Amino acid sequence: MKPLIAGNWKMHMTRSAARELATALVRSIPDPLEAADVALYPPFTCLSDVLGAVSDSEISVGAQNMHPQDQGAFTGEISPSMLLDVGATRVLCGHSERRQLFGESDDFVNQKVLAALGHDILPTLCVGETLAEREAGQTAAVVERQVRAGLAGVGADKTGEVTVAYEPVWAIGTGLTATPAQAGAVHAQIRALLQDLWAAAGETVRILYGGSVKPANARELLGVPHVNGALVGGASLSAPSFAGIIAATS
Ligand code: 13P
Repeated sequence: MKPLIAGNWKMHMTRSAARELATALVRSIPDPLEAADVALYPPFTCLSDVLGAVSDSEISVGAQNMHPQDQGAFTGEISPSMLLDVGATRVLCGHSERRQLFGESDDFVNQKVLAALGHDILPTLCVGETLAEREAGQTAAVVERQVRAGLAGVGADKTGEVTVAYEPVWAIGTGLTATPAQAGAVHAQIRALLQDLWAAAGETVRILYGGSVKPANARELLGVPHVNGALVGGASLSAPSFAGIIAATS
């Protein structure tokens, strides 16, 4: 399975800085991109600029969030058709920062996944336990609940469009990474859940690892069974470091 290396820029970058970063990245990665697929998730305000900067490359571009409805009285929200209108083809659903800081429920995250698929936007369902949940021995239960709820109603015919990202909350932005054994255990669990949901089609869904992925640890993490790519925050904000992670796939 070809790995996917995705950069989540979170709430960083002005439009000009975004153009510079995306342009530098295009220059820093192999053309053609043989060993990996690459995606960028800039803030909404930079989508158009980033799409322009990567238009001659194989990099795809998505949004960090989306409202499930197509239009309506939802002040401050962005709809699936608005994302398509700007040219975005992917979306992150249920990032832990959305769940923790903005109160997104499993059900709301599921509505986003279904809305994305309904519009041929490729969703990445993000799941992961907090430190308190891990210490209480609840990792497997939390991950199972988030995966089953987030993917409820998604048919096996849609598995080619879905990605799952496992991001242990305690490893995000902390410099702590899951050990290969910790990541491997959860990725194997998610793979089994996807097979339970979709039988053989569940084997083809990419499961990304996220949480302090850097050039220095990428090769080891990407070598873990069922780790099919990375969702990168901080290290995606510099072209050399994100390119270094992409290089770790070859
Ligand atoms: P960091 O790579 O900064 O830990 O962020 C991970 C993440 O949340 C990506 O979505």
